[in-house]
Amino acid sequence: MKKIKTALFFILLGAVLQANAQKMNPIYLDNTQTIEARVKDALSRMTLEEKVKICTAQSKFSTHGVPRLGIPELWMSDGPHGVRMEILWDSWGHAEWTNDSCTAFPALTCLAATWNPQMSHIYGKAIGEEARYRRKDVLLAPGVNIYRTPLNGRNFEYFGEDPYLASKMVVPYIHGIQENGVSACVKHYVLNNQEKWRGHINVELSDRALYEIYLPAFKAAVTEGKVWSIMGSYNKIRGTYACENDLTLNKILKGEWKFDGCVITDWGGAHNTKEAALNGLDIEMGTGTDGFTSNSKNAYDNYYLANPYLQLLTSGEIPVSNIDEKATRILRLIFRTAMNTNKPFGSLATEEHAAVGRTVSEQGAVLLKNTAHLLPIDASNYKSIAVIGENATRILTEGGGSSELKPKHEISPLQGLKEKFGADKITYAMGYASGKVEYDKVNKSPYEAAKLRKEAVELAAKSDLVIYVGGLNKNSQQDSEGDDRISYSLPFEQNELITELQKANKKIVLVMLSGNAYEMPWLNNATTLFQAWYGGSEAGHAIANVLSGEVSPSGKLPFSFGAKLSDYGSHSYGSIAYPGDSINEIYKEDILVGYRWFDTKKIKPLFPFGFGLSYTSFQYGKIATDKKIYSSDESIKISFTVKNTGKVDGAEAVQVYASQPKASVLRPEKELKAFKKVFLKAGETQTLELEIKVKDLAFFDNTTHSWKVEVGEFVLCNAASSADVKSKVAIQVK
Ligand code: GLC
Repeated sequence: MKKIKTALFFILLGAVLQANAQKMNPIYLDNTQTIEARVKDALSRMTLEEKVKICTAQSKFSTHGVPRLGIPELWMSDGPHGVRMEILWDSWGHAEWTNDSCTAFPALTCLAATWNPQMSHIYGKAIGEEARYRRKDVLLAPGVNIYRTPLNGRNFEYFGEDPYLASKMVVPYIHGIQENGVSACVKHYVLNNQEKWRGHINVELSDRALYEIYLPAFKAAVTEGKVWSIMGSYNKIRGTYACENDLTLNKILKGEWKFDGCVITDWGGAHNTKEAALNGLDIEMGTGTDGFTSNSKNAYDNYYLANPYLQLLTSGEIPVSNIDEKATRILRLIFRTAMNTNKPFGSLATEEHAAVGRTVSEQGAVLLKNTAHLLPIDASNYKSIAVIGENATRILTEGGGSSELKPKHEISPLQGLKEKFGADKITYAMGYASGKVEYDKVNKSPYEAAKLRKEAVELAAKSDLVIYVGGLNKNSQQDSEGDDRISYSLPFEQNELITELQKANKKIVLVMLSGNAYEMPWLNNATTLFQAWYGGSEAGHAIANVLSGEVSPSGKLPFSFGAKLSDYGSHSYGSIAYPGDSINEIYKEDILVGYRWFDTKKIKPLFPFGFGLSYTSFQYGKIATDKKIYSSDESIKISFTVKNTGKVDGAEAVQVYASQPKASVLRPEKELKAFKKVFLKAGETQTLELEIKVKDLAFFDNTTHSWKVEVGEFVLCNAASSADVKSKVAIQVK
């Protein structure tokens, strides 16, 4: 009996202690509670000063937490292609840590060029694991600004010219990151489509262009990607800074899209306390401050959303509900990340992550020409192979601005080719040289161009095969943040070099690394052209695997390659359309961006959007739909066969475009509305099923400010690119 009493006593005691523990453990610290309950509880415990504090940075890449309540600060890091090296507390300098080397993943143009959302997911998951391991709560990625001009320095960080491709490719990337308890931060919202005057240029455009071209990828990131944070851009939109813009932040983002996360400034994107407070900004980062100065309080107190904001709240000029709304969003972000206790621990610079980067790089590489069938290369056919071009050896993960990386390894194209084809067969000549990479500064090359060219041409003349590796790089005024390109041509006298090489040897494989299109004056004499993007840590292995045929190229262009700059819509309306007059810029080409412009204006690009060759060939069957007549709330089921008619396995990104021949408004000649990447063994046929919602055939009606599907005929086509339509089918919307 005594034993039972004792046992009962201890069970009772345990229950009381547990109850007490729960009572003592406040809700916001109790991980069994919902995030919303924890937010509400934490908010109720915070003073006004503490609520204001969490709206601003305490250092270059972290915000204030609430030390009294044990609510940690948010740690942020760039960038879209890998986790940036640690930055100093209060400057842009590198902290020179020795434990922050990462995996450099391929640039996002390469990811877009895979046309394979599964690649986006494995990419997002891997980069999210690296951010998690580096204890970052917010990864400042991805960028989804639309490729409007080929001069934009940051196009390499984005998903190309088509809003539908960008929308489909960005969502799994965000899911992959956030599965790690790390917030993605989709950027730069919105209309930051150039680097020139990015800090203040005021963009004017129609609602149609805004809603049909520039918003969709951000909308997908929010409504499908459920992204937890978004970065306001530097520029102005219709007269108001993007980080303090009632239309884009309050009305569209938080209103129409019901975004429940945080709006974070680009670094230094806040300009006015009241506008920032009332127009939807939540977290202010990077405001012009010299940090700790000897003769004034910590300059962080002078942030727009710091003391000046506190004063407007205490004076009653701004209601406390305003700060409660911001603090609620910020606490929600903290509980999703920093205080999320059931997130994985991540991993850094692993073989698995390198394999992800290599696979994306292999699947994103685009074969543009192979008329002499030099590819795939069988090295046994050659005694001497000349590798020529600075990009065969140049480090391309440094520079470019905030997406710079310190990778654990970076396999150069030359190294990859030597490993693949045998170092004994390969001789290298630089051929051309650019200056040292430096942010916002163009450095001259220390080499004499003519001498480099002469050496390269001589080597080419006596080699069996030439593999040229050129393109752009991450120097200022190339593919880099902070500045735009000043020419559509290849830099560093490459056109002269390529032309000379073509005279010296007929067997040249041109491999171009870039995040932008460029002129090709040497194209008619080129038999073999391969667009390989910035491939990151495994660039050299990926290039070698595709050139050798170990992997069949399956990438397709995420943006058009125009023949010359004036062929582009953004360069067809004078400087007010690009780069603007230094105050205003008007997107006069409106909705006709990229292939929408080239197709509608019947201007032939060198290589069209969605184009890419393979080592095999594909045959498309006739496109068919499940019905002929649809109502606006239905989906159109599309089917057709694709056959691999060649001798090697391959993959094909099939595309479906829609057009409305008799619309009441101007509509592009065709618009991408579905795509699928299909892997086919030699000789294999597959029947593909794709779906398009009738409502996605709508255009945005400026007059009614709403989406509109008109009744009448629509034509759907299956295509291998925007300029290679295989078959068409007409349907009626009633
Ligand atoms: C930069 C970039 C942005 C980056 C941020 C932090 O100015 O525009 O993409 O994430 O500042 O480095």
